[in-house]
Amino acid sequence: MDNSNSFSVVHNGIIENYQELKEFLISNGYHFLSQTDTEIIPNLIHYYYTKTTENTDKLLNAVHLACKDLKGSYAIEVICKDYPDTMIVARKDSPLVIGVGSEENYISSDIPAILSYTKNFYLLNDGDLAKLSKDAISFYDANLSPISKELKSIEWDVFACEKDGYEDFMLKEIYEQPKSVRETIGSRLKKNEKVNFDDIGFTKETLEKFNKIYLVACGTAMHAGLAVKPILEKLCHIPVIVDIASEFRYREPLIDKNTLCIFISQSGETADTIAALKLSKNEGATTIAISNVIGSSITREADFTIYTHAGPEIAVASTKAYTSQITLLTLLALYFAEVLECVPVEIVNNIKEELLLLPEKISEVLKDSSKVKEFAHKVYTEKDMFFLGRGTDYAVAMEASLKLKEISYIHSEAYAAGELKHGPIALIENGVTVIGILTDPYLVEKSVSNLQEVITRGAKTLVITNQELNTANYDEVINIPNTNSLISPILSVIPLQLFSYYISKEKGLDVDKPRNLAKSVTVE
Ligand code: M6R
Repeated sequence: MDNSNSFSVVHNGIIENYQELKEFLISNGYHFLSQTDTEIIPNLIHYYYTKTTENTDKLLNAVHLACKDLKGSYAIEVICKDYPDTMIVARKDSPLVIGVGSEENYISSDIPAILSYTKNFYLLNDGDLAKLSKDAISFYDANLSPISKELKSIEWDVFACEKDGYEDFMLKEIYEQPKSVRETIGSRLKKNEKVNFDDIGFTKETLEKFNKIYLVACGTAMHAGLAVKPILEKLCHIPVIVDIASEFRYREPLIDKNTLCIFISQSGETADTIAALKLSKNEGATTIAISNVIGSSITREADFTIYTHAGPEIAVASTKAYTSQITLLTLLALYFAEVLECVPVEIVNNIKEELLLLPEKISEVLKDSSKVKEFAHKVYTEKDMFFLGRGTDYAVAMEASLKLKEISYIHSEAYAAGELKHGPIALIENGVTVIGILTDPYLVEKSVSNLQEVITRGAKTLVITNQELNTANYDEVINIPNTNSLISPILSVIPLQLFSYYISKEKGLDVDKPRNLAKSVTVE
């Protein structure tokens, strides 16, 4: 609230120049009760409100003037004593949606939060403001000129945003993966047909022009990029660079009009990923956004958008979004391969057939989680764990390690198994837990001997595999169905998602809302 208790503000984001604005306000007689950046906003609005001589739309004008002074990111909602029926909202670099009801309207940072009240939404662009009452909404651009907006209907099922009998959203979302992968494949891939990406419609000439592909994202979405790098390179013969968005955006990456940049984001609101996208567009690259949220910020910036159709993901720890991202990027790689015609048709067809079988195979993996649960029970008190793999198994090791850290607070590291003897093996001692992922027939022998090295030093081992191994060597082996090793992450990650889940449960932690983390990271 402001000093006069007339204005109340809700703010999501960070005001970077708040210190400067605070000093300005203090020099004008304002005082502050907190250290927050947010407190300057209602006071700044009060400042302009009392200065303005206009009588029409005084509140809207004051909010607009205050927003012009703010640097950083914000989605704000403002109410004022003098306008009891009005609410002003504004956004820049933070998500904000307006839900339309009957005799009532809603604002939220995210669609699922208000999906049980309405399926009709307006989405604000950066710099936009809106004035709401219970039965009217008007929109304004950054210059306060009135604008019109299209009302969007969101098809998500409200039950998809509820736990539906599961103890936690994360568990529900893990078990939804047969469906979410099937929906992501959707009508893009049908038996004996070419992969359909008419919505992108790249020609052979366009694809041949690209001399490199960047996959840019954060966290789990970046891991999805790592998991598909091998298939994209194998099927398209174009070098693929996977980059962390927060590094990419500050590194002056080598991109130009011959670069294809693909940005992966479940929420479509991740600040660093959006900034990386804007930078790539400025450098002339062709940009594709991969998102799970219709109309999210990233989709409004990119040249092309493709959706994952995983359905709403509520748990902070991403599970079904990851497998859907890999599925969609695999489809994209297959599409590029068919347009470019640079690999034998049999290779492409084998992956297409295997991809269509995945929903069934995921159900098989999910049928019995007892072994994972038991192993989680044995090791949940540990302080450190290691995940090892080669090729796509290494990408899964990284994702599994992130999952474990974020929901169980156990420190873990993922290593390419071949790197072990270049340092990390020094950490292996009696009783330490090592998890091996072994799904690539060409690499399995190598990984088996790496695991032997840790077993010799006393490690406890859990192995996820679709290969025939001498199971007596390991403390626990989880067998998963066989598939083409280029798409095996979609299956091999599932027992490891469950592993983290059960460890978190054993420790009595809040699985869906781990400490210090947010579902959408809308600030850098
Ligand atoms: O919404 P995004 O996919 O852009 O989010 C990126 C990361 O913040 C996200 O994947 C994060 O790492 C998850 N909490 C991992 O489970």
